[in-house]
This record gives sequence, C-alpha cells and structure tokens, in this order.
Amino acid sequence: MSTVLIIGAGGVGSVVAHKCAQVPDVFSTIWLASRTKTKCDAIAAQIERPIQTAQVDADNVPELVALIQRVKPDLLINVALPYQDLHIMDACLETGTAYLDTANYEPTDVAKFEYKWQWAYHDRFSEKGLMALLGSGFDPGVTSVFTMYIKKHYLDEVHYLDIIDCNAGNHGQPFATNFNPEINIREVTAKGRFWENGEWKETMPLSIHEPFTMPEELGTLNIYLMYHEELESLVRHVPELKRARFWMSFSDNYLKHLEVLQNVGMTRIDPVAYNGQEIIPLQFLKALLPDPGSLGPLTKGKTCIGCRVTGVKNGEPKTYYIYNICSHEACYAEVKSQAISYTTGVPAMIGAKMMLEGKWTGQGVFNMEQMDPDPFMEDLNNFGLPWQVVEL
Ligand SMILES: NC(=O)c1ccc[n+]([C@@H]2O[C@H](COP(=O)([O-])OP(=O)(O)OC[C@H]3O[C@@H](n4cnc5c(N)ncnc54)[C@H](OP(=O)(O)O)[C@@H]3O)[C@@H](O)[C@H]2O)c1
Repeated sequence: MSTVLIIGAGGVGSVVAHKCAQVPDVFSTIWLASRTKTKCDAIAAQIERPIQTAQVDADNVPELVALIQRVKPDLLINVALPYQDLHIMDACLETGTAYLDTANYEPTDVAKFEYKWQWAYHDRFSEKGLMALLGSGFDPGVTSVFTMYIKKHYLDEVHYLDIIDCNAGNHGQPFATNFNPEINIREVTAKGRFWENGEWKETMPLSIHEPFTMPEELGTLNIYLMYHEELESLVRHVPELKRARFWMSFSDNYLKHLEVLQNVGMTRIDPVAYNGQEIIPLQFLKALLPDPGSLGPLTKGKTCIGCRVTGVKNGEPKTYYIYNICSHEACYAEVKSQAISYTTGVPAMIGAKMMLEGKWTGQGVFNMEQMDPDPFMEDLNNFGLPWQVVEL
C-alpha cells in the first residue's frame, strides 16, 4: 500500500497514471501533478479509480517541496521533461522521497545527454538512505534490462550490443514527432556516438544507416546510428563491452522534413531576436507541430524495440535478439495513447512497482542495468509489453 506522486501530465504521464491505477495493491493512492492542472484533470477523468491532481512548477524547488510534504508520497515518478530532473531530485532529497525518471538531465541551452549531473547525486541519496532509479522507460530502461537478461541467462560475457528502436507505425500526418517535439528533435539532430574498443567514436548526425528486417513479418526499415543515453551507463556498468551502438528507424518523409527545418534554422535552440522579443526557434516549432498526444487515435501499425547482443557462452560465440512488439492501436484501446508513450509509461510503472515492492533496492543513484532483470522481465509480460528471445 503506497502513495505515488507522478510529475508531468504529458503523453508518458498519462500512461503511467493509467497503468499505476491497474495495480491498486501497490499504488493505493495516486497523485498526478503538472504545470497545467487541467491536463491532470483530463487524464484523471479517463481513469475509473480516483486520481488526485495538483498544479506544480517542477522548476521551483520550494513549490515542489510543499507539494511533496502535502502528498507524502513513498515514491515520486518524474515524467516531466529532462530539464526538471535536478530540481525534482533536490526536492526529493529535501523531503526524504525516493525518485524515478525516464530520461537523463539535459541543460536547456545545450543538447547534451550525460549522466554526470545525476550520478553526482549518488552520495547525497545514499547518505539519506534513499534510492533514485534513472531511465526507467523503454530506451533507456527496458533496453538495459534486456541486455542484462541476455547476459544473465544466455551468455558468459557480452561483447557487442546493438539497441535497435524501430517504429513501423504511421500517424498519417505530414510531419509530427511521437513524443515531445523539442526533446525528440534535439536528440535526432545531435551527432552520433558509439563505444568501440574502449573509446567513444563520433559520427555526423544520421550519417550512418543500414536496413534492418524486423521479426514477425513487420518488414524492413532503414535504421540510423545515433547517440543515446543508455550507452553511457551500460559501458560503465558492463565493462566487458567491446562495442555498443544505438539505432533508430526514420521514414524518408520524416528525414526530408527534418532536413528542411534544419536548413532554415527552425531546429536551433539558441535565442533569436524577433519583433522585439527573443524566441527559441525549436520551441516555436513545437507550438506549430501536432501535440504527440493527439496522434493516439491516428496512429496505426507497430513498434519493435530490442537488443542484438553478441558474446560468448562456454567459449563459443553466440548472438541473440531480444525484442518487444507493441501495437499503436492496442495501446490506444487500452489507455488512450499511442505505443511510444505506452512503451515508456509501462516500464516507468514497473520500475516504481519494483521499488515499492522491495524487489529492487539500494541507497544512492542507480541505472536499470544495476538491478536484477528477472522480476522486471516477468512484469513486462504481465503488464502489456511481452518479449521474445531468438538466437541469430
Ligand atoms: N526512456 C524512454 O523510453 C522515453 C521515451 C519517450 C519519452 N521519454 C521521456 O519522458 C518524459 C515525458 O515525455 P512526454 O512525451 O510525456 O512529454 P510531454 O508530452 O511534453 O509531457 C511533459 C509534461 O511535463 C510537464 N512539464 C514540463 N515542464 C514542467 C514543469 N516545469 N513543471 C511541471 N510540469 C512540467 C508538461 O506540462 P505542460 O503540459 O504544461 O506543458 C507536460 O505535461 C520526457 O522526459 C521524455 O524525454 C522517455
């Protein structure tokens, strides 16, 4: 019996609220707070169980502290934006509250993913006897758990890892992003980076691609090498990795629009003077693009996210592919969201469940791959994200 406070009433926050409500034995009281309270109320109205709602500016630590002291949660689930991570962690430290998020901290003025800012909180969480779990979404999140599951049950050592995120769905819009446009475009337009033989190698944005044939006759898509935050933590926690890469699929249509937007400066994140005021072009673009939440009823098809893991077992080389396939339409029918929000929100709920049930414990700041994968993998099957393993 626990009280959970969810911060952020966007696409992911909505799924987290729906999924926590499905597990009343663990999440007996659910609070949802965000910058715009009406969004929390709209989500609460979709859910049969009572969800308490509140307004909060998560960049304002005293305001957050006051809310946490009122709600007294056993755990705070942060599914606002990466910019809020450190402020929310500060409020958790001040109030003695356990913390979970799905994306690492990013400063607003540089598109840079690094765990160093959040890892720096380890001693302070540890001294207070508190646990903070970072990156409990799908990627990061499930991808790290998948990797550790293969390492635990199929291989003695993991040498090569390819995380492959494919979206074979279609929302029918000329151009839209499946999650927060600002975060998505910052991620996609950044330089690629991968780990090889003990060092990071950098590539120009989206300059390396190859075709990938998805299982279960989902077809073949072009996947592009990108940098993604779980590479940093996996390389640190699985030191035997010789190479770790992250790939994501994009349609030609998405890339064509993105190229034009970049060429005309619409993806810039530095302030530009316009009509006597400063605007950030990417933030203005976000205001023009479809709200990812509105894509739910429009999106058809499936996502396929998984890990191709090569290593050795009893001295023999082996490669396994572990993956989940998720239907946009089935997600919408269940929780009124498309699969991108669903595949993030379900693991956030499961990570929270692991902590509240005492299956995942620790004092300090942890990444997903530091925990036992087995109970989490079992709950993926129980809560809507079943997975398969095949030997390649
Ligand atoms: N690990 C993964 O697999 C994965 C995948 C996708 C997304 N994510 C992460 O999930 C998080 C949520 O993504 P999303 O797609 O749900 O984004 P979203 O739809 O834009 O929702 C973000 C929510 O946070 C709220 N918010 C923003 N700033 C706030 C502040 N200062 N105080 C309080 N609330 C604030 C927003 O409020 P307003 O409604 O008022 O704007 C909005 O409701 C992001 O951090 C994203 O990077 C992780």
